[in-house]
Amino acid sequence: MDRSIDFEKLLPMGIEKFEKHFRNKQWFVAKGKPERFNHFSWEQLDEYLNSSDLNGYDRLPQCQIINEKGNKYCHKKAEKKMKKDEMYRYWKRGDTFVLTLCEFLNKTMWNQCMKFEEYYGRGCANLYCSSKQDAHCFKTHADATENFLFHVRGTVRWYIMNEYEWDCPPEDATVNKVIDLEEGDLLYLPIKLYHRVDTLGPRISISYHFTDAKRWKGGKRKPWYDWIGDING
Ligand SMILES: [Fe+2]
Repeated sequence: MDRSIDFEKLLPMGIEKFEKHFRNKQWFVAKGKPERFNHFSWEQLDEYLNSSDLNGYDRLPQCQIINEKGNKYCHKKAEKKMKKDEMYRYWKRGDTFVLTLCEFLNKTMWNQCMKFEEYYGRGCANLYCSSKQDAHCFKTHADATENFLFHVRGTVRWYIMNEYEWDCPPEDATVNKVIDLEEGDLLYLPIKLYHRVDTLGPRISISYHFTDAKRWKGGKRKPWYDWIGDING
C-alpha cells in the first residue's frame, strides 16, 4: 500500500507562498492526523533490526547508532562491526538508531522521495528511532540539506535555533522555539539552520531531505515497480 503524500498537500500555505517565503529560509510546523505518516512501524523496525548478524550475511548496511556523547557509530564504515546482542544492549540503554537511505524499505517511503523530487534534486530518507525518553541524540547541529520531518510515532521535543551554520559555532546557537512534535506532525527545516531534539518517549521520525534541483547533477530515481501485480495468495 502506498501512503505517500503529494508535496502540495503537505504545505498549509500552498506552493507559491512556500517558494517565496519559506523555501531555504523559514521553518514551519503543520499539525496533522496521527495516522497520516504511517510510513514505518515498530513491527517493521523489529524485523529490520533482527536481520543483522545472520550467519555472516549483514543486512544492516546503513545503520548508525548515536551514543550518550552524541557520537556516531556507522555500521558500514566501522572496522569492528557490532554484533546483534551488542546493538540490542545499546538500543535498550537509549542510543538512537538512524537508518540512513531507508527509502528502499517500502513503497511509501520510496514514492514519497519521488514526490519531493518533482520539486527538488535527488534526496533520501533517514529513519530516527529511539526506545525511550531522553534517548541519546545528536548535539546541536545543522544539516546540509532541506529537511521535511515526518513524525510517525511518539513525541519529540524540538529546539529550533535562531542561527544558521554561517552565523556561529553550534554551541553558541540560541533557542528560537521549543516545539513538541506528535504523530502526524510535519516540520520543515531549512538548510543549515541549527537544531537538536529530546525524546519524550519511544519514537520514530523520518527525515526526508533534499538538495536544490540546481545542485543535483545525477539522473532521476527509477519508479517503484509492481512485481506482484494481480498475483494473489
Ligand atoms: Fe539534523
